[in-house]
Amino acid sequence: MDTHKVMCSHYNTVVYDILFMKEDLQIEAQKILDENAQEGGFTIPSKGLYPFQWKWDSGFIAIGLAHYDMKRAQQEISSLLDAQWENGFIPHIVFHNESDSYFPGPDFHQSFLHPLASKKYKTTGLTQPPVLGFVLEKMLEISKNASSVMSFIKTHIDKVYENHRYFYTNRDIHNEGLVYIYHNWESGTDNSPVWDEIWETVDAPQYTFQRKDTTHVDASQRPSDKEYNLYVHVIEIAKKYQYDDQKIAALSPFLVQDPLFNAMLIRSNEALMNLYKRIGGNQEKIDYLTHHQEKSKARFNEKLFDIDLNAYIYFDLRNNKPIRHITSSSFTPLYAGIPSKDRAEKLIQVLLDRFGGEDQYLCASFDPTSELYNPKKYWRGPIWMNLNWLLYQGLKRYEYEALAERVKNESIELITSSGFKEYFDARKAIQEASGRGYGGDNFSWSAALFIDLLHE
Ligand code: SER
Repeated sequence: MDTHKVMCSHYNTVVYDILFMKEDLQIEAQKILDENAQEGGFTIPSKGLYPFQWKWDSGFIAIGLAHYDMKRAQQEISSLLDAQWENGFIPHIVFHNESDSYFPGPDFHQSFLHPLASKKYKTTGLTQPPVLGFVLEKMLEISKNASSVMSFIKTHIDKVYENHRYFYTNRDIHNEGLVYIYHNWESGTDNSPVWDEIWETVDAPQYTFQRKDTTHVDASQRPSDKEYNLYVHVIEIAKKYQYDDQKIAALSPFLVQDPLFNAMLIRSNEALMNLYKRIGGNQEKIDYLTHHQEKSKARFNEKLFDIDLNAYIYFDLRNNKPIRHITSSSFTPLYAGIPSKDRAEKLIQVLLDRFGGEDQYLCASFDPTSELYNPKKYWRGPIWMNLNWLLYQGLKRYEYEALAERVKNESIELITSSGFKEYFDARKAIQEASGRGYGGDNFSWSAALFIDLLHE
């Protein structure tokens, strides 16, 4: 028998099966995004667990939608921007709809306390990483009808620009090009061990509240009650000062320069400059962004790179000290073109040494070599698809093609084996044996970014 022929036909069957499976999964991903779609043109992240519109979720969701329904991708963004405050602030949750399956809801957040808050929608007084600039650019890249997407961008880009002005005007207290977050929920990486030391400095009273998240997801995969009490406390302080940025900057016990948040701002600055250049005119805006971009990148490299760890870290502004932990956020500056080639090389060595062993899927959200690593608990270790997507883009930008391919393939593999979960175990043996991820089911950005990765 011709063994070569047999092997080839086996190989072809496997390839065919994989392609077939991917096609099925793409249909499944679209179904999830359709089922999570809401009246008003936005998509919830996951039924029950997250029943409203979230800012950075919507950005990643729009990237997936752009591949098969550009109109809906545009609605995703415009429904979010519709809730922008008069000072340019874009909130992290927009309460377009009502739901009692989530805490804390609109009655807790009370965005109306701020005089410039949206009058049209109830929102939070917190924000999330500024992804919208590069999302608009990505939508244009994906588009098959560039002129129609360009006209959408022309009518919406100034709102994103105003959001960047808001950050530089209100959240850069030392005028150094780095903006702060005042709550861990603003980082997007909610219960990262990075915040542990800060919480030790905070003396919070015991609040009375009813969590809802642990009715949807096993409590072992979610933040603790003690942490939730602290999350509530920081918002109570912000509310006491009517969400006034200056008072928050002076008085919030949590005030951090986060590498993920600032890298997203820098990558989005770059995207806005590219888009304005394509649109033409707008020289003042381009000049403003260029000035801030240079300053931000330089200071980012000076202040947020730890030369002993060879990685980007966090800075605790309230306690005036660096927070020396390595997380998946530490690698996101690659996507924003922040490190030099040499620095990128060192950073990637750290990624491989600490996060990339043969027994690990890339990329754990927290340093697997740390004793604080918890591979099942939300942002204390599990893999998240959006961070993997950002890492993939960054590796490609610096031409680490093979490693980028590994991140892409492992992301696809995790979803293929475990479904569109919210997060996944980075330990190969555990993940493969259980065939299950963690957190919410039918998670929108896992579906959306899976679609985008399949098209890569
Ligand atoms: N991710 C947060 C939550 O778990 C809110 O942004 O509710």
